[in-house]
Amino acid sequence: MIDQPLLSDAFESGEDFAIAMDARDPLKEYRDLFFIPKFKGADCVYLSGHSLGLQPKSAGAYIQEGLKDWAELGVEGHFHAKHPWMPYHRLLREQTAELVGAKPEEVVVMNSLTVNLHLMMVSFYRPTASRHKILVERGAFPSDQYAVKSQIRFHGFDPASSLIELGPERGESYLRDEQIESFIERSGDEIALILFGGVNYATGQFFNLEQIVRAGRARGCIVGFDLAHAAGNLPLKLNALGPDFAVWCSYKYLNGGPGCVAGCFVHERHASSYDLPRFAGWWGHDEASRFQMGPEFRAMAGAEGWQLSNPPIVSLAALRASMDIFHQAGMESLRTKSVRLTAYLESLLRESSPSKFTIITPPEPTRRGAQLSIRAQHSGRALCERLTAEGVLCDWREPDILRVAPIPLYNSYHDVFRFVQHLKRAVS
Ligand SMILES: Cc1ncc(COP(=O)(O)O)c(C=O)c1O
Repeated sequence: MIDQPLLSDAFESGEDFAIAMDARDPLKEYRDLFFIPKFKGADCVYLSGHSLGLQPKSAGAYIQEGLKDWAELGVEGHFHAKHPWMPYHRLLREQTAELVGAKPEEVVVMNSLTVNLHLMMVSFYRPTASRHKILVERGAFPSDQYAVKSQIRFHGFDPASSLIELGPERGESYLRDEQIESFIERSGDEIALILFGGVNYATGQFFNLEQIVRAGRARGCIVGFDLAHAAGNLPLKLNALGPDFAVWCSYKYLNGGPGCVAGCFVHERHASSYDLPRFAGWWGHDEASRFQMGPEFRAMAGAEGWQLSNPPIVSLAALRASMDIFHQAGMESLRTKSVRLTAYLESLLRESSPSKFTIITPPEPTRRGAQLSIRAQHSGRALCERLTAEGVLCDWREPDILRVAPIPLYNSYHDVFRFVQHLKRAVS
């Protein structure tokens, strides 16, 4: 029974099965496009792509091209490099738009994630005396919590009364769709901004973005998403979904490298909202007159109008290498493999030592991406350290969560099999 099983009960537990699944994997050649870290001369079991994606082997050549142009052309590289630096960020526009289901003018690659989140809140968090609250999922990534609290204080409000953190019902591990929707319906007229992670970093829950946008917009709220754990992990349709903005980083599922330049989406309905307050920089200025160096800022249309600075070529070059691979593989094919690979991981975990840990990520494929979060309540961080010492790389989030993500571009069924063998030994 090794033909394309989708349901977890179609999986078999032996190593032969994993090897046979890899042999039939239509995306198996993609693994070879990445450097897999080594342990004692063999490939590590690398299940940390939710934290830092692996380096495409082609990244060096993309970066080298920029370095060579810089060495040979100096400042002239802005216009005469093989890919001139002046419009370099546009090389990523079409593929980024394709990746998140947006129109090209709705996306821009710039800055870092938290910076982009602040820039978006400057424009889209406009609190008033009666509508000043920000709704986030409880347990949002700390940087997002710090960012929203600082924005609330910046506007003279108090997070104690202006920040709502919606958590799961007692005894449950994740938020139910109905709970989010009914909360927005009930309290929407006090909420200025709904800011949800697409996929929660700790639980791996993929929220029902469509429902959140629909419910939020029906109540007059601005809706934004932090897609750090969703971009490159799940197919997205941002233009059709219609959030006001979204931001994401490029060093996790997008393999752009540590600290790589981030992504930003602004829905087309705001493309010409020049009256929105925004923090301005020269790269967001109308391109045609940017080099007239005039004193007054005039924003470009679309997401590019939120840019501040001229683009970081080396970082963008590394990201181009990965985005070319994504474009070739296609997000739908990647997702098809990802659903199976994660279901396979889940099925092996359920078979082995179920009393030692609990999977807190939702079981439905529609409510999660690649990541499974495993609550290892009796083990502590030492469990993750034991795995690392054996060349098995996943990560630990306090107090008791082991996060594991098989990445369809470069992880194999055999990686998943090996991980579960190591985990069983480590908890026993
Ligand atoms: C969900 C989420 N939001 C925000 C951040 C912060 O990202 P950055 O340091 O790139 O601003 C991270 C980093 O891992 C994250 O996972």
